Amino acid sequence: MRITIFDIHAMKEAGQRIAMLTAYDHPSAALAERAQVPMLLVGDSLGMVVHGAENTLPVTLDDMIRHARAVVRGSSRALVVADLPFLTYATEADAIASARRVMQEAGVQALKLEGGVSIAPTVRRLTELGVPVMGHLGLTPQAQHTLGLRVQARQAEAARRLVEDALALQDAGAFALVLELVPAPLAAAVTQRLRIPVIGIGAGAGCDGQVQVWHDLLGLFPGKSPRHAKRYGDIGTAIEDALRAYVGDVQSGAFPTAAQSSSMDPDELTRALG
Ligand code: KIV
Ligand code: NA
Repeated sequence: MRITIFDIHAMKEAGQRIAMLTAYDHPSAALAERAQVPMLLVGDSLGMVVHGAENTLPVTLDDMIRHARAVVRGSSRALVVADLPFLTYATEADAIASARRVMQEAGVQALKLEGGVSIAPTVRRLTELGVPVMGHLGLTPQAQHTLGLRVQARQAEAARRLVEDALALQDAGAFALVLELVPAPLAAAVTQRLRIPVIGIGAGAGCDGQVQVWHDLLGLFPGKSPRHAKRYGDIGTAIEDALRAYVGDVQSGAFPTAAQSSSMDPDELTRALG
């Protein structure tokens, strides 16, 4: 049985913090599951961290479906949430068509949509139709060309609008909310005000849970990771070391040995080659 949105709500009520993590493929989902991560996000960050794009805007519904399906197959307990990509939910009709594809073709249990008051009617409609929706406010990367990539809602007016957006999403039926790159005291206040769990990224310790990007958490990039990320592993270096050892062994002839090879009766070989 998978974790449900009701289990996630119960975690907030019990004061149990929620650890969410992105996953994009079968092996990562299986590892996250073994580590008992309760909620997995197939984020459109896959455009950058998996496909090498500059931002999330080029990600398509087909990209999301292919990756989300692999994550669903790699897990059996986690609640799997998938992002709807840029401009695939601009109208209610678009949102329903996109939701149908991701829910049916990938088999995720919930979707995440970026935006506040303006998409609340869409959130309400999807929820009525049986699609659990996670909201996403603060820095919403799909709007980076209009918002920039900086910390959001630092000024009173913008902070007040963020609170309104959060309440509108909750009223519309969103089951949870991601707050990205907002000041910690504001995120803590929103978390206090909402009944639904607030999952932060770069939003401080006062949220009900945290979400992190797989590659940032595990140190899979050679460069530096975002300030909000903490490295829990240096897997990129471990992979590079292993690959160097492999290249060296092929060059030196140390790999493969008889242990990795198959033998053949010499008579058979002679009869074949003369
Ligand atoms: O796409 C993503 O990984 C996300 C998280 C950073 C919240 O939306
Ligand atoms: Na995203």
